[in-house]
Amino acid sequence: MRPVFQSSTFTNPVGSTAEVLYTRYGNNPNQVHIGKRLALLEGAEASLFVSSGMGATALAHLAVLRPGDHLISSEWIYGGVHRLFTEEFGRFGIEVAFVDPLRSRAWKEALRKNTRALFVETPTNPLLRVVDLEPIAALAKAEGLALLVDSTFASPIAFRPLEHGADIVIHSATKYLNGHADVIAGAVAGTDAVVDEVRRLMQLWGQAIDPHAAWLIERGMRTLAVRMARHSATGIAVAEWFARQPQVAAVHYPGLPSHRDHETAKRVLEGFGGMVGIELKGGARAAERFLRALTIAAHAPSLGGVETLVSEPRLTSHKGLTPEERVRGGIPDGFLRFSLGLEDAEDLIADFAQALAQL
Ligand SMILES: Cc1ncc(COP(=O)(O)O)c(C=O)c1O
Repeated sequence: MRPVFQSSTFTNPVGSTAEVLYTRYGNNPNQVHIGKRLALLEGAEASLFVSSGMGATALAHLAVLRPGDHLISSEWIYGGVHRLFTEEFGRFGIEVAFVDPLRSRAWKEALRKNTRALFVETPTNPLLRVVDLEPIAALAKAEGLALLVDSTFASPIAFRPLEHGADIVIHSATKYLNGHADVIAGAVAGTDAVVDEVRRLMQLWGQAIDPHAAWLIERGMRTLAVRMARHSATGIAVAEWFARQPQVAAVHYPGLPSHRDHETAKRVLEGFGGMVGIELKGGARAAERFLRALTIAAHAPSLGGVETLVSEPRLTSHKGLTPEERVRGGIPDGFLRFSLGLEDAEDLIADFAQALAQL
């Protein structure tokens, strides 16, 4: 691996008119390298890492939207991004409408004269719904709109949105791309023109990634493919096991034939990943007892790392909703979201079994 260029600046030959190297500009060798690596994985002309997934999402949208523009977003998106759209975009004069991404007519119905872009997250959190991008991409193309896709849950190993008609891919690189739960970062991939605009915004809004974080991401991306294969193998084993347990009312995993989007998932994903949702019959009390009994998995937010993490959407991503709203959204109390790590699947299952036995 290349060394860490832990430097904010670099000496310039006197009198040179060549590009000035300065780490906030994103042209530190560690920053440049991971951008090239992700572009290759996504099949993009270019990509750029920034200091968080939220930063990547904000800059990607600001790169394609202008004051007075209208954005149509899937309603099944990360809570932080939902807040970015509803609390912040108004100050730039950007209006956002939310639609059910799987109702094919919904996107068209929400179109306005000033609609400029569409935003989708797939697979979604925490129900792991898999959105078929092709009809949405066809609409975007016909109407001349930019299609932005948050592909964090899949990683480019399982899903490459540009191959399905998207224009811009966004990642929280904090998750699978880095994979070791030791970095906060984000990335945007797309055409040279889009990435140049994101770079310009990154420089002006001060969003560059630190060189050491970039170096850690390079370390993480070297094992991305083998990690994703292992996450998927454990995912199917754990999901099938949970589906047989009497204390479990439902299992949400796109690799199970019972999942509503299993057919789409089989067609578009290469590996179903390591994210699994379950509903415990005993509600919030059962969820808390289960979590207290775990000995391997940690109770923590975030996902995509080497260690198994479990979280309760009612206390994290969906905290802002009432219990009734959560039930309507398919996330009743007692719902647990697992980010399965790289531990031995049998060890994890044994841990989950002893925790279920204590309910
Ligand atoms: C799907 C998705 N997008 C974006 C983000 C934001 O990423 P970050 O925490 O790196 O800013 C998250 C974080 O959980 C996420 O799950």
